[in-house]
Amino acid sequence: MSVVENNRQPDADIAPLFTERWSTRAFSSEPLTDDEIAKLFEAARWAPSNANSQPWMVVYETDGPDREIFNSVMRPGNQKWATAAPLLGYFFAKNNRDDGNPLPASHFDTGSAWMSLAFQASMMGLFTHAMGGIDKDAAYERLGVSADEYTVICAFVVGHRGDVSALDEELQRREVPNGREPVSEHVTRGVVA
Ligand SMILES: Cc1cc2nc3c(=O)[nH]c(=O)nc-3n(C[C@H](O)[C@H](O)[C@H](O)COP(=O)(O)O)c2cc1C
Repeated sequence: MSVVENNRQPDADIAPLFTERWSTRAFSSEPLTDDEIAKLFEAARWAPSNANSQPWMVVYETDGPDREIFNSVMRPGNQKWATAAPLLGYFFAKNNRDDGNPLPASHFDTGSAWMSLAFQASMMGLFTHAMGGIDKDAAYERLGVSADEYTVICAFVVGHRGDVSALDEELQRREVPNGREPVSEHVTRGVVA
């Protein structure tokens, strides 16, 4: 039994997709094709959202001239491993509708778009890793996004799995897929006593 199977046995018979996706830190620099990238964002496009507002925005870079800028927005602990990945992006959530009214579920909806992208990647044999460890002020300043219009949610990388031995020792030790708390910790039938 592999490490993934060992630590990620579901308690009910669900599609393998849910347990097979996990957040490695070992990425190879093998580029993604344009077709692969298009599929990732197409999957995100079809995520559900409050009143179909689709209040997410992604900015991303691969090996283009802005990659250094994108790398610099991550906290150093994430830069250590995530700069190797061929695609680095940032999810932003829109703050208000165009008419000025609030978008109360925009962070939630942006999470849905991220999850759609992550599962699409996993189905294509790719790996993803979200990162909240970013310099939020720098995200607006360096990526050219208005903080009045958007809230930065997280960074993310996508790529092929790489060589674990290229990570430092501490990161190698953490290269074990996480398990989960039981459903009962998070789900209640009926009113909460
Ligand atoms: C919003 C968000 C922020 C995260 N921030 C970081 C981060 O800054 N650095 C990191 O290494 N992992 C980060 N993670 C990855 C989580 O630690 C990981 O998803 C969680 O431990 C569950 O493991 P799994 O994705 O392998 O199932 C983040 C995940 C999410 C969804």
